[in-house]
Amino acid sequence: MFFCIVVLISFNGWAQLSKDGNVSNIAQLLKDMTIEEKVGQMTQINLDVICEGEIYKLVEPHHIQQSKLDEAIVKWHVGSVLNCGGHAYPVDQWHQIIRSIERTVQEKSRTKIPVLYGIDAIHGANYVMGSTLFPQQLAQAATFHPALIQQVAGITALETRAVGIPWNFSPVLDVGRNPAWSRFFETYGEDPYVCSVMGRGAIEGYQGENATKIDDQHVAACMKHFLGYSGARTGKDRTPAYLSDIQLREIYMPSFQAAIDAGAMTVMINSGEINGIPVHANPKILVDLLRNEMHFNGMAVTDWEDVIKLVKVHHVAVDLKEAVYQAVMAGIDMCMVPNDYDFTRLLIELVKEGRITEQRLDQSVARILQLKMSVSKISDATAVGLNDKIGCEEHIKVAQQVVAESVTLLQNKDNILPLKKEAKIMVTGPAAHSLILMNGAWSRTWQGVDTTWEDHSKMTIVEGLRSIGGKNVAYRKGCELNSYKKDEKWLKSLQKMDVIIACVGELPSTEKPGDIDDLSLERAQIKFVNDLIKTGKPVVLVLLENRPRLIEPIADQCAAIIMAYQPGDNAGEVLAKILYGEINPSGKLPFTYPRFNQSLLTYDHKHSEALDQKFGENAYQPQWPFGFGLSYSQLVYKNLKVSRSSNATEQPTWTVSVEVENKSDRPALETVILYLHDQVASVTPSVRKVKRFEKKMVPAKGVVVYEFVLGTDDLSFIGRSVKPEIEGGVWDVYVGDLKAQIEYQP
Ligand code: BGC
Repeated sequence: MFFCIVVLISFNGWAQLSKDGNVSNIAQLLKDMTIEEKVGQMTQINLDVICEGEIYKLVEPHHIQQSKLDEAIVKWHVGSVLNCGGHAYPVDQWHQIIRSIERTVQEKSRTKIPVLYGIDAIHGANYVMGSTLFPQQLAQAATFHPALIQQVAGITALETRAVGIPWNFSPVLDVGRNPAWSRFFETYGEDPYVCSVMGRGAIEGYQGENATKIDDQHVAACMKHFLGYSGARTGKDRTPAYLSDIQLREIYMPSFQAAIDAGAMTVMINSGEINGIPVHANPKILVDLLRNEMHFNGMAVTDWEDVIKLVKVHHVAVDLKEAVYQAVMAGIDMCMVPNDYDFTRLLIELVKEGRITEQRLDQSVARILQLKMSVSKISDATAVGLNDKIGCEEHIKVAQQVVAESVTLLQNKDNILPLKKEAKIMVTGPAAHSLILMNGAWSRTWQGVDTTWEDHSKMTIVEGLRSIGGKNVAYRKGCELNSYKKDEKWLKSLQKMDVIIACVGELPSTEKPGDIDDLSLERAQIKFVNDLIKTGKPVVLVLLENRPRLIEPIADQCAAIIMAYQPGDNAGEVLAKILYGEINPSGKLPFTYPRFNQSLLTYDHKHSEALDQKFGENAYQPQWPFGFGLSYSQLVYKNLKVSRSSNATEQPTWTVSVEVENKSDRPALETVILYLHDQVASVTPSVRKVKRFEKKMVPAKGVVVYEFVLGTDDLSFIGRSVKPEIEGGVWDVYVGDLKAQIEYQP
């Protein structure tokens, strides 16, 4: 009898809670839950665990094995499932998976608390067959168009929600400070302000207007990976970072703070270590910083196997039980275990032994329940009826706009570009006819290298060029990614051509498989391009890469160079339109393109780093600087003006204006970037820092005024107190080649 009453109360508990959304009812529900049920909510398992077959070797076509699902839901009370079983699924298959889980919860779980499904939909709903693939985040940043990034995230949310998944492990808010990092392409580039603005756009796009309630067209976002993941000293994935408190706040925190302020609901923890302490075991980062200083109230999930890694990789815990203790006490809410129930079992033991209190569990479970409450239709996730939106024409157009606005023209000697339609073109190189190289990692599969999943209705670069240039476009691969055999006869035959387009790059990869020992472009490809250059014909280099691979030995001899990033499989035609001049390129580098392996400076380096061997300040000699990007139009910046607000009783503001004149007959989209340089400060100032940017259309032969308003906050920096400080002085204002000044005494 007693048992029946409990069943009734608990069942009503969730039903009532999800209906009226009354947060105070969470406390009541927690009272009705057992320790096992609470720990289950904190457990996230990989889809493989509940599918037929072995983990990582599932039976095709992947499907749920009911006995395994029962074990997860009934025995372990699992609160969350993630991932696909190794490759993307069509919408129906996703629906079957999600419905099986929902049905099992409804029919067999005591609490009936829905399972929260999470996925990496990081450049579109990349694990849904037929979904719209957008350019990767780095390319998205090159648009300098946050409203467009918001639209991308909105579409990704819609296409993810269409299959019944309401939680997305995106965006990456790690600032790309080391170009060698295997996840560089997943970042919004090297600047904290750009990452903040773009990240905010993504959060708003994923979660929608209402930051407290996710409607059925949106998903809960997950900021990742908190904190300092991208700051690894060697640039190799998940290796140690050594970061000062000032650096953390100046460089790595702003993008997360902006996302928290925009209402980001969840966060994923950095798998690495900072100053010798794994972040998953560090309450200073997970509680003092994230909760107390940054006021994050949402839910914190570990990254993949990161509790296990406290034992196996980091060696800070003697066994798994100790690792579970450390991570839970450090402040994680949910553990992406993800391939067994050891975390669950050991955490139950720790609570029963009294080492971890039930109150500690309640803290995390309350956050998890709050999140589940905030996601509408979570118990009926496949009923949203958005199937026909997946990969629809309207979405593809947005993807193409992102390509058009991100592709960055880095060099264009003698205006070799745009190409003439009648020009005879040889398109060559390992990236010329490859959809996987266009897509990059996280495309239908994790590493994105399996060609089985390519969508052959999409155009490669060659196909795109042929759609405009027709028979004038010839193709030959000419070279593999890392091997090249010279073919003298073919090289000689290139004399018949007017232009050679060499598409080079690297095999998609991410995380550990993407570690490299040398940032240079593979030697085979360098040799190949050198041979093309020796033909004397103009070579247009097109780069498709995970990160800026060094091309110093060939760059100067190329006639034109285009950074295509990893533009996704909707890019073939757009790239061709850019090359033929139907689209005027407007992307700008959101990072510094380095020239040499030992000079990986970011644009906001310190003055001492700029000192060269002759004691001049010229050591920053990248291949191309941050913010660089050419247009087919001739654009001139002029009349930089700064005016200070006159109201003496209020904090001053400064209005900075600049005119951009388009001297050509082609309209141009132009991003203007405003930098400040603090001339003297008690913590060594950077040579410059981005404070604002804006992209506008400058009509042919027209002049457009860009206006930015700066406040005293823009003059602050993280001082010796490890807090924002403002000191009086003089700031240089840089816009293009123009310079002005601001003076201020607090
Ligand atoms: C990655 C995360 C990702 C997670 C789930 C991890 O290996 O670091 O970025 O969200 O896997 O797929």
